[in-house]
Amino acid sequence: MTNKYIYFIANWKMFGGLNSLNSVYKVIKFFKTFKKNKSTKIIYCPPNTLIRPMSKKLKNSRIEVGAQNCHENESYGAFTGSVNSIMLKSVGAKYIILGHSENRSIGENNKLINLKIRSALKSGLKVIFCIGETLQEKRKKITKKVLNKQIQSGLFKIKNKKNIIIAYEPVWSIGTGLIPKNKDLFNTINFIKKKIRNSKVLYGGSVNPKNIKELKSINNIDGFLVGGASQDSKKFIDIIKKTYN
Ligand code: PGA
Repeated sequence: MTNKYIYFIANWKMFGGLNSLNSVYKVIKFFKTFKKNKSTKIIYCPPNTLIRPMSKKLKNSRIEVGAQNCHENESYGAFTGSVNSIMLKSVGAKYIILGHSENRSIGENNKLINLKIRSALKSGLKVIFCIGETLQEKRKKITKKVLNKQIQSGLFKIKNKKNIIIAYEPVWSIGTGLIPKNKDLFNTINFIKKKIRNSKVLYGGSVNPKNIKELKSINNIDGFLVGGASQDSKKFIDIIKKTYN
């Protein structure tokens, strides 16, 4: 991996209460003395309820905080149960994950994701834009077509893409322990980078301390979006360390 920053993004999903914040101390401590900390970016994306306390905890640590989703409306409104990107920014989020397959699977389409991305960028958040094919689409060999559609529609009318990071997450590899074959992953990342010039492209889906050795050998990946393993500080630190060894 030769890129300027290697990203390690922790997606905590709908896990964690106030006491889970204690485990983050280990990562703060580790990062302080980590030799590669200048070329490494760690971003925690906890549930909304933890954004504020987590950003307080991470103050002065060079570890940043992000959110996992938002409402597409740019201003306040009568949307019971929702929060928008401005509200997330105001409590400490610098990044936001959008287009995650767990939200696509409950009805978020490309058009809605595009509106969310545009509102988040307008609010000054950096966007971690998730794309990926389902197992069925992979079997039909239409991965590139699916990704192309997700990219074209998701980034519709967005000229300046410098605050967008792409996370390629094959749906069939999320939480399953399965990862793509090296060659396939290299080719897909390359394909995405050709579609969005100068973009950072991360891989996500079952990243763990065991498979990181294999994943890090794919030299066009700019980092990892880690779900399950990121809730365990020891595993998360292990993933970071092993990426450089
Ligand atoms: P996983 O999740 O690492 O648990 O597979 C990744 C994600 O959903 O972002």
